[in-house]
Amino acid sequence: MTERFDAVDVIRTKRDRGELSDDQIDWVVDAYTRGVVAEEQMSALAMAILLNGMSRREIARWTAAMIATGERMDFSSLSRPTADKHSTGGVGDKITLPLAPLVATFGVAVPQLSGRGLGHTGGTLDKLEAIPGWRAALSNEEMLAQLEEVGAVVCQAGSGLAPADRKLYALRDVTGTVESIPLIASSIMSKKIAEGTGALVLDVKVGSGAFMKSLDDARELARTMVDLGTDAGVRTVALLTDMSTPLGLTAGNALEVRESVEVLAGGGPPDVVALTLALAREMLAAAGKPDVDPAPALADGRAMDTWRRMIAAQGGDPDAPLPVARHTEQVLAPADGVLVRLDALAVGVAAWRLGAGRARRDEDVQAGAGVEMHAKPGAVVRAGEPLMTLHTDTPERFERAKDALADAVTIAPEGDRAAVGPVVIERVG
Ligand code: URA
Repeated sequence: MTERFDAVDVIRTKRDRGELSDDQIDWVVDAYTRGVVAEEQMSALAMAILLNGMSRREIARWTAAMIATGERMDFSSLSRPTADKHSTGGVGDKITLPLAPLVATFGVAVPQLSGRGLGHTGGTLDKLEAIPGWRAALSNEEMLAQLEEVGAVVCQAGSGLAPADRKLYALRDVTGTVESIPLIASSIMSKKIAEGTGALVLDVKVGSGAFMKSLDDARELARTMVDLGTDAGVRTVALLTDMSTPLGLTAGNALEVRESVEVLAGGGPPDVVALTLALAREMLAAAGKPDVDPAPALADGRAMDTWRRMIAAQGGDPDAPLPVARHTEQVLAPADGVLVRLDALAVGVAAWRLGAGRARRDEDVQAGAGVEMHAKPGAVVRAGEPLMTLHTDTPERFERAKDALADAVTIAPEGDRAAVGPVVIERVG
């Protein structure tokens, strides 16, 4: 087959700050997926995009071209409206676990096609795999049946959705080109649009533990994704949420499942409950149920019933004891005072080094490993009291985890007030 363009010309266009034409974009995405554009050529183009950006038209076309490389799912046969949530990833972000069954309790189908963690942010599938028997891989038929019967499904995204993204994301990961707003937005939205959800709520994290460290960047990413979704006919809104400190009191797979079950039982840390409810309200509104208050379903056990059915439908035993790490070690408060900072990135890296995350795609994670926090910003602490408990099966990991936490906390004299902001910072609709 003769090729319509030359990859080097496409790279030069972007390198010299030009705009790529629709035809150039369609070709380069497709040709890369077919293996005609080489990895080194795509990595040069990704770097040129990271450095020089893309126009709104280019981003929309790039997203459409990625969708066109694979299959599209179709939920139109379901009797329920669909709503999905996507988080850009954070430390202790277990929100999908209570949120999916909570929203499904109100007759909305929640298809959560999720991934595994890489680096310091955990993956939802790794968390659920801590539950004995639970399996992530479902066929499209099994997924549709579970959505109709239970309403909520969290499963592995099939390889058929936007295969260009799968290849490109792996390349970006090793070429320093992840942190590009056009590339992140098109990567996330190509998968969400191909998945075929009717409504989408984006949780765009901002702060040390997130891709987006500044509010301006998070706003721009949110706006870009909301526009892409809306233009593709998906009702899309975004919440900008705080990721300067971890969500809740746990970071690590089984530890986070335990905390999610506490939320489903009507308890749990206030920030996890607040974010779960804020996202649930947005999903219900986007699915055509703006007047439903989801909060009572956490208190009265309805969301817990849906959780139990959702876990059991995928082979999991909701009553089985969760795995516990073989070794623990405590990190003590160095001084009396008010905890004014507990850094999300440091806790994420510590949990990862303890074995909760993986450095390579083919590694196994430890179900019981992670960090349990005993205080969050705003709390008064006393010197020598435990601030955190570290969990791992492999105690030689403690030292490196503690290194990651060396500068994780700031304790101010008592009387100073910690600036503890709300978890939801802003809405982009
Ligand atoms: N998540 C994705 O799916 N893609 C990105 O580029 C970043 C986060």
